Amino acid sequence: THLEMFVDKLPDMPRVQAYRIRNSFLEPGNLTIGMYEKIWKFHRDLPATRVYAYGTSRAAATVPGPTIEALQGIPTHITWENHLPSRHILSWDPTIPIPSAPSGVPTVVHLHGGVHPPTSDGHSHAWFTSNLSYVGPSFSSPTSSYPNLQDPGNLWYHDHAIGLTRVNILAGLLGAYTLRSPALESPLRLPHGPEFDRHLILFDRSFLSDGSLFINSTGNNPSIHPQWQPEYFGDALIVNGKAWPFLRVRPRRYRFRIINASNARFYRLFFSNSLTFLHISSDSVYLSRPVPSRKFLLGPSEIADVIVNFADSPSQSFILLNDASYPFPTGDQPDEFSRKVMKFIIYPGNKNHQDPSHVPKRLLPPPPPPTPEHRAAATRYIAMFEYESATGEPTHLYINGKPYDAPVTETPRSGTSEVWHVINLTDDNHPLHIHLGLFVVLEQRELVEVEKLKDCMMRINDVDKCRLKDHAKGRTDPVPAHEKGWKNVFKMQPGFVTRILVRFAMLRSEKPYLFDAAAEPGYVYHCHILDHEDNMMMRPLKLLN
Ligand code: C2O
Ligand code: CU
Repeated sequence: THLEMFVDKLPDMPRVQAYRIRNSFLEPGNLTIGMYEKIWKFHRDLPATRVYAYGTSRAAATVPGPTIEALQGIPTHITWENHLPSRHILSWDPTIPIPSAPSGVPTVVHLHGGVHPPTSDGHSHAWFTSNLSYVGPSFSSPTSSYPNLQDPGNLWYHDHAIGLTRVNILAGLLGAYTLRSPALESPLRLPHGPEFDRHLILFDRSFLSDGSLFINSTGNNPSIHPQWQPEYFGDALIVNGKAWPFLRVRPRRYRFRIINASNARFYRLFFSNSLTFLHISSDSVYLSRPVPSRKFLLGPSEIADVIVNFADSPSQSFILLNDASYPFPTGDQPDEFSRKVMKFIIYPGNKNHQDPSHVPKRLLPPPPPPTPEHRAAATRYIAMFEYESATGEPTHLYINGKPYDAPVTETPRSGTSEVWHVINLTDDNHPLHIHLGLFVVLEQRELVEVEKLKDCMMRINDVDKCRLKDHAKGRTDPVPAHEKGWKNVFKMQPGFVTRILVRFAMLRSEKPYLFDAAAEPGYVYHCHILDHEDNMMMRPLKLLN
């Protein structure tokens, strides 16, 4: 039996203010956010589902968690409390590296897109269970401090525990974090306020008929990994915690901050009535000018920030659609369920609705331009490999042929820029996310005779001996206009070398950091397909002073 679509209203997650106002002065906020097991209704006709949810209390906890509202320049301190039970609601795989806790649900929170000290980065080995009964080797404190000195924009927070990220996020541990700068943003007169400036947090989930979350707990390669599957795909699309919701809108402009919080699903989004999106930022940074598109691709963990003007709609009601194959790009086309995301219905009448918002020709002054490529402090080669069993099933994925716990090899100096050539030798697209860094995509170039290069790289992983230069000769694929700004994650196409210019790290003020980016336990970079990240497509990143 299938669930009926468009019967639940799109919810808004509760908003939590991450600063205080005292005697009309702004002060840092001290928040406590817990992780709770509770039940959640994903659909009117689906029995309630056992989930893990973030919230300022058990009663207030939601999936996704509350949207944290922070102000540029005002630090936020959050104490993350683990109130989860002794056993996980989902099964893990003991054959991939996981926390050593004998009981409890290990968790640690990462603020995705944040420029903050390593001790507050939610390092995968900094996990902890309830009451801090067990903690990981990199754990220092359950309180994280986010300086909020970067550009205003869209961040999100989610679990990052070693080997458990895919199941912890699947269970519900994710939420949005908005960093605002009223001084910079108010003059833009973009749609604002809770009705017209909203999040759409997308993920896919499968359910059993009793409402419980379903994850196939038999691995694709059970003699090697009894539970691990290379990609999780759910058959229901969920927006803000409801399956295929609807939203009634007025005939005016709205701002939607769209976060792809799925484990492995890409979305290529478009409206059934061809209404246009106007992109105003990509991931965590504003674009310098708005960029229109009718269709765009959003990989796992990417964020699109768009203006949609419903006054331009030729129809009263229409659907937000997805046509990205899964796995992307070589898998199946979405079926009728994963093709439909949500429905929009324009309030009837009301033709002359006042719309005081507008979209300026210029948004924010762009962050300082990247260092010219030839002056970059280092050039690195980052190769993505997939290993298979004798039967051709994926067993694990590595970056540069190394497991996560092999000694660190990427050690940029703080404040510098580096050129990374990311060589994708697999058949899948991998969204690469770099903590602390922000980058510009310079070029996507197809590799010629990729099988030959792959054989050589799998054997010796040496770009000179394997003659990368002779293979990096295919066509180039233009970077989409709305992704030409600063990114913290980008889709690495299979059979391509993608060249990026990464800055470690960037604050709006360009002041020396007010924290030690070179401190322990360092940062990480990884593929944001969570099932890949957990099975080792992640490497440490250690800044040097
Ligand atoms: Cu969104 Cu390392 O994470
Ligand atoms: Cu991947």
